Amino acid sequence: MTTPEAAIPLWERAELRAAAGTTLRPGGLNLTDRAAELIGVVPGWRVLDVGSGLGATMKRLCSRYGAQAFGVETSLQQIQRASTGSRCVQADGAILPFGDGVFHALFCECVLSLFDDKSAGLREFYRVLRPGGFLVLSDLHGEGGEGVGSGASCADRAGPLSVTREMLVAQGFSVFLVEDHSRHLKELAAKLIFIDGKPRNQCTCESRRVGYHLVIAQKKGLENGG
Ligand SMILES: C[S@@+](CC[C@H](N)C(=O)[O-])C[C@H]1O[C@@H](n2cnc3c(N)ncnc32)[C@H](O)[C@@H]1O
Repeated sequence: MTTPEAAIPLWERAELRAAAGTTLRPGGLNLTDRAAELIGVVPGWRVLDVGSGLGATMKRLCSRYGAQAFGVETSLQQIQRASTGSRCVQADGAILPFGDGVFHALFCECVLSLFDDKSAGLREFYRVLRPGGFLVLSDLHGEGGEGVGSGASCADRAGPLSVTREMLVAQGFSVFLVEDHSRHLKELAAKLIFIDGKPRNQCTCESRRVGYHLVIAQKKGLENGG
């Protein structure tokens, strides 16, 4: 029996790969580079990418910055497409199979909005970061409308940016940077429309204002590095 296309999440569909390339989200590797440069990734840093998709961020962090990059991804199909080998583990990003204080930085790009319990996810991110370690979050945010936190698409599930910020502070993070990158969301939406001449994304967010942000937060404690 085949799965109806509407039941397949957008990030698993060929149309998103055609529109977005190897990063399944707005902003592409330019946004990854911006974050990597802001936090000062240096060779040897252990960096975890939660929801690593096709592995583009892992590969970039290794090739351009000399980081030891690891990934966690729920979808076996994405892991197979990424071909990043044993550096990517099939696991839920909210229950990370790593010890405390292992990573210099953790990237989570367009994934946190998909978590059922975002606070629990952020608690886990905090746990696996070293003191002074950086969390790079890029994601959709949404204001207004019904059903925030439920629904099938990232846009349906995206909550207000102010709530993400409050959750970060509640977990003990210092918020280092908040930037609006909604322009990249519009660009990706436009590319999706023009792939086959009609919008096929099952986004039900017409009643909501949706945007895209980059947030960098830091775990309290000693300076990162070393
Ligand atoms: C929109 S894609 C973004 C992929 C990648 N971060 C990128 O920037 O291209 C979301 C990815 O998160 C994965 N994902 C969803 N929920 C997850 C979870 N709880 N833990 C780990 N990965 C998850 C999906 O399978 C998908 O590959």
